[in-house]
Amino acid sequence: MAPQRALAWKKQIWARKLLPVPWLLCGPRRYASSSFKAADLQLEMTQKPRKKPDPNETLVFGKTFTDHMLMVEWTEQAGWSRPRIQPFQNLTLHPACSALHYSLQLFEGMKAFKGSDRQVRLFRPWLNMDRMLRSALRLCLPSFDKAELLECIRRLVDVDKAWVPDSAGASLYIRPVLLGNEPSLGVSSATRALLFVILCPVGSYFPGDAMSPVSLLADPGFIRAWVGGVGDCKLGGNYGPTVFVQQEAKKKGCEQVLWLYGPDHQLTEVGTMNIFIYWTHEDGGGHPAGVVRQSLLDLARSWGEFRVVERKITMKEVLRALEEGRVREVFGSGTACQVCPVHRVLYQGQNLHIPTMDHGPELILRFQKELTAIQYGAKAHEWALQV
Ligand SMILES: Cc1ncc(COP(=O)(O)O)c(C=O)c1O
Repeated sequence: MAPQRALAWKKQIWARKLLPVPWLLCGPRRYASSSFKAADLQLEMTQKPRKKPDPNETLVFGKTFTDHMLMVEWTEQAGWSRPRIQPFQNLTLHPACSALHYSLQLFEGMKAFKGSDRQVRLFRPWLNMDRMLRSALRLCLPSFDKAELLECIRRLVDVDKAWVPDSAGASLYIRPVLLGNEPSLGVSSATRALLFVILCPVGSYFPGDAMSPVSLLADPGFIRAWVGGVGDCKLGGNYGPTVFVQQEAKKKGCEQVLWLYGPDHQLTEVGTMNIFIYWTHEDGGGHPAGVVRQSLLDLARSWGEFRVVERKITMKEVLRALEEGRVREVFGSGTACQVCPVHRVLYQGQNLHIPTMDHGPELILRFQKELTAIQYGAKAHEWALQV
């Protein structure tokens, strides 16, 4: 059949509803469908505001929550509901909820910082919105307009801005979540979803401002993410199985896990951080798309003093560089800590001393200073979004 005739034939069949139109089968309709709008936000203020934490008290990560949360519901039939800022409250879920059974769940992690000018700023939130939408599409959860979600989050932070701590290194951690809420045990895309955002005031990752380095267990028997998998998306299902490995690391006297991959033991991530190595190249010259990772790469490239390369690095290369004294600093990057030095790696029964702290750590401190200046508003920068 000639291509044009074939197409006319298919259109005729689709028009008579003999076959479903292909784009309804594979889902773009929902991706292109409308989003909730920040202009429709409904606001219900709490009648029982809680006591804010004492600024001198150490805030344990993720245990204290603010007075309000953002909530938006979605159903395949009705689309998105109007977004609501409402008092912080428990969820009521059907026991068959697909997020609980099949991990149809994703999240984000971002921070707001209060500067000495009392202004609250979000750090590169656009990158979190990009990653969140990517995670949503990967799980066949409904699409949304990233700018509208960001504006809803900005309004939520504004409502609870008195909760943003202002002590050195402290911030407000923002946790957006999207989950499939299908009340059925079938493994399929969800026809109901919940998007919500909760906020936690958090203290400095390094109390007292002294940067303490971490030790890592590098055991190639455990794999966190793999080619063709979902390691580049922030899905809850990626994190649950890491708890056991983290416990193994603790049993072996290490604080975190250095995740290796493949027969050549490529270094992929440190705990829940991206990994950086500052070293001298052999020729004489330095994976999830993390927001801090991207920022360090951007900063280092803007300085123009280093060769900044994103590539696979194997344990064999690290061992050789250590032997040859070429390693200067090894560190993790992530929203929780910003930058975190590594001083020891336990690999194949051998404790490797990583000389990060012997070198200052000059580069880590420079990154930390630069990020802090932008986040707390000492330096005006396009990466900060004022609340
Ligand atoms: C597994 C993993 N890798 C890396 C990161 C760092 O990403 P970001 O810089 O966006 O916080 C995170 C989150 O903090 C993470 O959970």
